[in-house]
Amino acid sequence: MIFGVIGAGQMGAGIAQVAAQAGFEVFVQDMATEFLARGENTIEKSLARLHEKGKLPETPADILSRVTFTTELNDLAHCDLVVEAIVENEAVKAELFRSLGRIVKPSGILASNTSSIPITALASASGRAEQFIGMHFMNPVPLMQLVEVIRGHQTSDETARIVTETAVRLGKTPLTCNDFPGFVSNRILMPMLNEAIQCVMEGVAGKEAIDGIMKLGMNHPMGPLTLADFIGLDTCLSIMEVLHRGLGDDKYRPSPLLRKMVQAGLLGRKSGEGFYKY
Ligand code: NAI
Repeated sequence: MIFGVIGAGQMGAGIAQVAAQAGFEVFVQDMATEFLARGENTIEKSLARLHEKGKLPETPADILSRVTFTTELNDLAHCDLVVEAIVENEAVKAELFRSLGRIVKPSGILASNTSSIPITALASASGRAEQFIGMHFMNPVPLMQLVEVIRGHQTSDETARIVTETAVRLGKTPLTCNDFPGFVSNRILMPMLNEAIQCVMEGVAGKEAIDGIMKLGMNHPMGPLTLADFIGLDTCLSIMEVLHRGLGDDKYRPSPLLRKMVQAGLLGRKSGEGFYKY
């Protein structure tokens, strides 16, 4: 199987890495060589860490030799499965899928790693709704077990079967849900992160106390503000906006502090500062 990944950011790099580790030939596309170089660097560092711990059956160089980095979308024409992991913006993703629908061979499956955008809408844009699905990996991809598989309104049983089998070949556990705003993971997670941000804004407690209370009290591996920084505050805001628009209830209203931090360019770990400095 030839694997395609669009976007060499936090998620795209991780997806490309696990696909190459599983033995697939992988093509990674991004808009500019500098983004591709950053993605390649992320993969190199991650493979080096796994190699040091003795967790790789091959050398990092052997695994990386299966990955081709390109700025040309046409290089993905022969892919059997293309996973998109670009910016969380419906119009931008739809435009990309319109192009992929024309470029990728007719039997190819198209998947989106979107956190919240309707799979059915992206499927329509692609012009191959039966061969379209949500394949939602968790961050950091090489370490996290879950792939949330989201069936769009017209996703075929065959597409769902191939994608869940592929997720297993990537060493992941696929769990399937239907196409509703935020799916399962972010419908439940994001309101909690948003509420933690609202607690900062209202002065309910300090950042460390909020994170510590949730970590120690709920046995979460990291506090909600640390997790929001890790995901990216721009991505968190986009997801809250999708939940708010799609479900209509005020409980999904993005915290004004979240909005302000994104406006200020404080996006979390990826920009060097969010609720904490990195
Ligand atoms: P990121 O900002 O780290 O990476 C996005 C990459 O896409 C960048 O390298 C950018 O240059 C590239 N890109 C943007 N527009 C493009 C286009 N039109 N064509 C080709 N490349 C393009 O973002 P991240 O965190 O990797 O998120 C990507 C997607 O994954 C989003 O849809 C997000 O909602 C989803 N996601 C994010 C998670 C997280 O924890 N950050 C978890 C699960 C899903």
